[in-house]
Amino acid sequence: MLWIGIKEFLFWKKKQLSKGGDHQSFDFLLDCIGGISKGDLDCLTLNIEGKLYLKKNLEYLESIWEDHLLTDAPIQYLCGAVFWRDLKLKVTDKVLIPRPETELVVDIVFNIFGKKSQKLLFAELGTGSGAISIALAIKFPIWDGIATDIDQDALKVATKNYISSSEQSNLKFCCGHWWTPLESFKGKLDLVISNPPYIPKDAYENLPKAVKKFEPKVALIGGEDGLEHIREIIQKAPLYLRKKGWLILENHFDQAEEVKELLIKNKFTSVEIVNDLSGVGRFTIGRYK
Ligand SMILES: C[S@@+](CC[C@H](N)C(=O)[O-])C[C@H]1O[C@@H](n2cnc3c(N)ncnc32)[C@H](O)[C@@H]1O
Repeated sequence: MLWIGIKEFLFWKKKQLSKGGDHQSFDFLLDCIGGISKGDLDCLTLNIEGKLYLKKNLEYLESIWEDHLLTDAPIQYLCGAVFWRDLKLKVTDKVLIPRPETELVVDIVFNIFGKKSQKLLFAELGTGSGAISIALAIKFPIWDGIATDIDQDALKVATKNYISSSEQSNLKFCCGHWWTPLESFKGKLDLVISNPPYIPKDAYENLPKAVKKFEPKVALIGGEDGLEHIREIIQKAPLYLRKKGWLILENHFDQAEEVKELLIKNKFTSVEIVNDLSGVGRFTIGRYK
């Protein structure tokens, strides 16, 4: 914790960026660890002779930045956190860094259910850091949720994130393969969400080095064609969803039409592709009969 002259800080910032890396990652580091938001940064030149309050000293911030440049490790893992919607979530290399495009899932749910106040049971398959389930549990406090994952270490991170983000107790965490932990909820789920691993095996090889080297493979690869997990989730969904229950899936940028066909083939209705903010058919949704 310290006060530093704004001139000195800006000089230091320029020096760090001259070493490499992108502005977005550097701004993230300043925000997450230094406590200086993008909004604060934009105003600094208005008060160039003034002082700035930092949560950590420049040497500490510099050591993280150099680690990032040297190892290619995502800045979020090095800072141990990510901003997602209005949450600050812990992330470790056991969980996928939740992506900004996934934030839209919460809006899709809100568009379907609005502010309806009735009680509802939802599940998320493959929760990772817990981002989607935690956001839903907070936004809809009278709903009950179950967040599952195959990886016990990921669930530990998700549980910590829930405890630090909310004082509610409407979200449970269970470990197991896709629907397996939900045996006792057969025919009872009103809503199921999943952002499963969907990268085709060959496409995985072409992902950026930082993703392949640091993010968990189990969170990314969806078999030969990328659809292995999505197929299994859709085929078993009718056993677990309540009549007219919703299934919301995130998919690879080019899979939406195939996912839509799979849903229709498995007797889903109201099937729709929802675009992300870049106009990519990133989500496919439907209700069981
Ligand atoms: C793409 S990540 C999504 C994580 C998080 N929901 C998000 O949107 O950021 C997929 C998640 O599915 C989990 N997963 C992979 N295979 C699974 C399986 N067979 N059963 C349950 N979860 C699985 C992974 O551990 C990972 O956390």
